[in-house]
Amino acid sequence: MTEPAKTSSIYQEDLAYIHDAGFGDTARAAAPVVVEMLRSAGKVQETVVELGCGSGILLAELSRAGHQVMGIDSSSQMLRLARAKAPQAELRCCSLYDAAIPKCAAVLATGEALNYEPPGRSNLQRLPQLIARIYRALADGGFFLFDLILQLPETVDAYQTWRAGEDWAALIDVTPDSDAIMRRILTFRRIGDGYRRQEETHRVRLFRPDDIETAVMSAGFSLEIREGYGQTRLPPGRRLFIAERRPSQGPSE
Ligand SMILES: C[S@@+](CC[C@H](N)C(=O)[O-])C[C@H]1O[C@@H](n2cnc3c(N)ncnc32)[C@H](O)[C@@H]1O
Repeated sequence: MTEPAKTSSIYQEDLAYIHDAGFGDTARAAAPVVVEMLRSAGKVQETVVELGCGSGILLAELSRAGHQVMGIDSSSQMLRLARAKAPQAELRCCSLYDAAIPKCAAVLATGEALNYEPPGRSNLQRLPQLIARIYRALADGGFFLFDLILQLPETVDAYQTWRAGEDWAALIDVTPDSDAIMRRILTFRRIGDGYRRQEETHRVRLFRPDDIETAVMSAGFSLEIREGYGQTRLPPGRRLFIAERRPSQGPSE
């Protein structure tokens, strides 16, 4: 695993564990959809790159389906879990916005991985460049599949919620912050006889759908927008984007 140039302060040890234990539903729903898309495009044993791969849930399924997978994530704790779950995967610990993307059949970013915005950086400026780089990395007929939280009428930007498992609990407080939401996440995880308390705050950019469509189409992709992965609908305010690099037409007669 390549060591980080800059480590992330998000998804430290306990939140990485909790994400894997209790928040992997999107990656699990995405797996059969992506496997089938690759199969029906005739792409077998291909290179697939996942940006913000987290604990490797999707990498593991793609690896099982016979693909060579590369996972990129800024959290070394997430990658530690991914190493165990998808031992065949090549893993890189760095920002997905800076990572070199090899020639591949598909690039994936599930679970809102593109929405996370570090302090002082604008994803709105960086995303079009990333999309153009992905286009160049993809083979003809390849696709970039990603889900995002967006500025939509139904997007909820202020709420409190919680989720718990056998040895953990996460309390989440969401507040609006201009064109973003702030998610304050308080975690409790059983360690020995007690529970360890940790806290993280994530800034999550809310993209405008038009900005995404413009960036995707200007890069040269065709675009399909869906409300979820197969039968699994994304929560309110989220959409699945499937950007396809059309097969080239070949020389005309
Ligand atoms: C909500 S998790 C989703 C993980 C996985 N894709 C899934 O669906 O289960 C978001 C992931 O994106 C990673 N991430 C966020 N911003 C990133 C960035 N700029 N570069 C690399 N990874 C990033 C986080 O570390 C985290 O693992």
